[in-house]
Amino acid sequence: MGMSAENRAPAIETGSSDVSRAPLRTDPAYAPTIVLENVTRVYPGAASLFARRSAGTTALCGLNLAIDNGEIFGLVGESGSGKTTAARLIVRLEKADEGTVRYKGQDIAALRGSRLKRFRREVQMIFQDPYHSLNPYQSIGSIVAEPLHIHRWRTRAARQEKIQEALAQVGLTPPNDFLARYPHQLSGGQRQRVAIARAMVMDPQVLIADEPTSMLDATIAAQIYAILSEIQKRGGLTMLFITHNLAAAHYLCDRIGVMYRGYLMEIGPADEIIERPFHPYTQALLDALPRFGHARPERQFATLRKTRRMHPSLGGCPFFERCVPADPDHCSQDHPPMRIVGERHYVSCFGYTSGAGSQPNKGMALSTSVK
Ligand SMILES: Nc1ncnc2c1ncn2[C@@H]1O[C@H](COP(=O)(O)OP(=O)(O)OP(=O)(O)O)[C@@H](O)[C@H]1O
Ligand code: SF4
Ligand SMILES: [Mg+2]
Repeated sequence: MGMSAENRAPAIETGSSDVSRAPLRTDPAYAPTIVLENVTRVYPGAASLFARRSAGTTALCGLNLAIDNGEIFGLVGESGSGKTTAARLIVRLEKADEGTVRYKGQDIAALRGSRLKRFRREVQMIFQDPYHSLNPYQSIGSIVAEPLHIHRWRTRAARQEKIQEALAQVGLTPPNDFLARYPHQLSGGQRQRVAIARAMVMDPQVLIADEPTSMLDATIAAQIYAILSEIQKRGGLTMLFITHNLAAAHYLCDRIGVMYRGYLMEIGPADEIIERPFHPYTQALLDALPRFGHARPERQFATLRKTRRMHPSLGGCPFFERCVPADPDHCSQDHPPMRIVGERHYVSCFGYTSGAGSQPNKGMALSTSVK
């Protein structure tokens, strides 16, 4: 893909005096749990015998995002849009090439010693693939116990009790039946429950769930959503939920951010994003969802071009080549700033003023398969 880091998303233009709920806020009195400030991540290109190292892939480009304490924030976008990269930067599995990731106001790149240990304990991640994220040679008991051992958590008896509690919390009951089993003896859904239990055993304050159900069928996925929702409500956890599926994000999340090729295209309250999507890419994602009752083509937004436009400019809108309502002169040349279009609702698109987001999506019932 190889997008230029120069083509960075510009700062937010609010167009309103109320910026208190902006995706990025600089007022020190307001402290969301996780903040990404102008974060760029470029993966180096591979060198070969016959070619010099290529320019690399810009997985995230100038990303600004703030996740509030106690909310479930959904990051949605197609494959390769940078969702997992954002998650890996937040848990410090990787470092940003530019910009800052903050946890409770602290730059996580600067954390050392006991503060880093505490961060590792408080911020937990569930990975996309339950088949590869669990060690096949470890029993379920020892997988869930591992974080407790690493952090030398209390006594052996207290650890045993904690493991049982974590397994029960994710519906693996009675817990004693699962302790001695191995991952290959469990179904995909049960494995993902084990992954959630392992993340929850440390009583984290932040849980990042990266496509936790992409390998599971719809019924099992719905059970996992219900568990995550229950866990979040009970513990007041801050959660980042990553998915391809806008309907799943709508079901679970308070707010949703829509990513495309490393850029944030639209961000807002989950209901607003579904009922009044402004960005043509968000509208295309909604078109792709199964709907009941209103399948008539005229109810579709039809904002996704079947063929790509020629000669997109590197400085233009990242969605230009696929965007039906694009203005070729404007959109191919300039990067649209992030502007406010509703309460806590922001969009990076020139077209919103001409009514791109004026088609309310009410009545276009989303598939209830995740509910
Ligand atoms: N380790 C890596 N080395 C090189 N390129 C990478 C690496 N990890 C990710 N990328 C590239 O960065 C871009 C963003 O990848 P990322 O995994 O963050 O996307 P994603 O939104 O999580 O996609 P998916 O929905 O498929 O999981 C992609 O173009 C991907 O090919
Ligand atoms: S800025 Fe232009 S090209 Fe980009 S999404 Fe909006 S209308 Fe389409
Ligand atoms: Mg991913």
